[in-house]
Amino acid sequence: MSVAGPNSQSLQKRAQKVLPLGVNSNFRYWGEGITPYVEKAKGAYLWDADGRRFIDYRMAFGPIILGHAYNEVDSKVIEEIKNGVLFAMTGELEVEVAEMITEMAPAVEMVRLACSGTEATMHAIRVARAFTGREIILKFEGNYHGFQDHTLWSTYSPVETYGNRRSPIPVPSSSGIPKSMREFIITLPFNDFEGFERVMKSYGDQIAAVITEPCQGNCGAIDPQPGFLELIRQQTDEHGTVFILDEVKTGFRIANGGAQEYYRITPDLATYAKALGNGYPVAAFGGKREIMSIIGHGVAQGGTYTNNKPGIAAAYATLKLLKARPIIETIQKRGKRLMAGLKDIFDDNSIPVVLSGTGAMFSFALGVENVTCQRDWSKSDQVMYVKMVEAAMERGVMSDPDAREPWFLCYEHSEADIDETLNVYAEVVKQAKR
Ligand SMILES: Cc1ncc(COP(=O)(O)O)c(C=O)c1O
Repeated sequence: MSVAGPNSQSLQKRAQKVLPLGVNSNFRYWGEGITPYVEKAKGAYLWDADGRRFIDYRMAFGPIILGHAYNEVDSKVIEEIKNGVLFAMTGELEVEVAEMITEMAPAVEMVRLACSGTEATMHAIRVARAFTGREIILKFEGNYHGFQDHTLWSTYSPVETYGNRRSPIPVPSSSGIPKSMREFIITLPFNDFEGFERVMKSYGDQIAAVITEPCQGNCGAIDPQPGFLELIRQQTDEHGTVFILDEVKTGFRIANGGAQEYYRITPDLATYAKALGNGYPVAAFGGKREIMSIIGHGVAQGGTYTNNKPGIAAAYATLKLLKARPIIETIQKRGKRLMAGLKDIFDDNSIPVVLSGTGAMFSFALGVENVTCQRDWSKSDQVMYVKMVEAAMERGVMSDPDAREPWFLCYEHSEADIDETLNVYAEVVKQAKR
């Protein structure tokens, strides 16, 4: 059985007549005849265009924190949109959302709302440049900060193109990024303490911002080594550089206060999207009052849809629920059990594996013993990974075939879903081993 049934395949052919690759985001294209199309989703389950049901661990690349089509969020959105969706004026609901974000996210004193993670990082970078009067951005290989040109460098290119780790070559991840932007970007391997200190010593005073995902949510959920985020904090403080923590995947997912709370780290600015709205289009960036206060005083930020009512209402309902119930605690507990169960299965089959991330958002790299950066991760067995994902899909469990993309859990993944997933993986791993 293909991962794409006959209806998906014919929808792909039809879509490709009007949409490049037949999708609206390159990341949704798995290949010719093997790209599943969706019919609907509810709770922890997703049905493809052929009516097959899957336990969904993609969760739309992370936004779905409560569950698909979550009634309490949808009802709030429906109630609110009856009174209009867009006004080019500010309303109380968005003020309440901003208040809740500043209350929940330890480093955020002031915030501005946006519609997507790409927008949030783009704005944060502009504000950091405006605040420091500098132009260079330092980012880490394998991190993804959205599709804007400023940081779409050394994201998912083959690591062989990145040069020596002592003097990495920033590689644009797309045609169409102006060559001149190369002047404004420095790339480094994640968790490279020595390299980071060396670069900050030489260039720190010219660097506007160091931007990083707290754990590499776009490269196998690679964990920060103890002390690495703290080193970024210390060095950016020393050089007057803005520390931007990109919490688009971790925010409102790995703890109510995101990675700031989970890793006890205080950036200058942080960016959010995804779990903030349980799937609705809403994003945010915020941080120190001193930095955020420059917006509107010669620093431009805005957007017609930045307070779109469906997104704002969804964020309002999602944050209220996260505050009121032990949602993330429950997700983390179930996710940790899933991680431990998978580890046991790989160990029982003598397949080396490195599990990274937290229960709410984790990955595993096969055939390797140690992974601290994209260069290590690229040595993992991605072919075996894809085979396992395909075999698991035949048995009703869907994770992303791209091993860089974490498994995401939501509140509605039950203990029974975890059991079923582990049973499926026990079979799949044994089969892959044969
Ligand atoms: C860490 C991170 N930053 C930014 C983005 C961009 O977010 P969006 O897809 O909403 O533009 C993503 C998307 O996956 C992300 O994972």
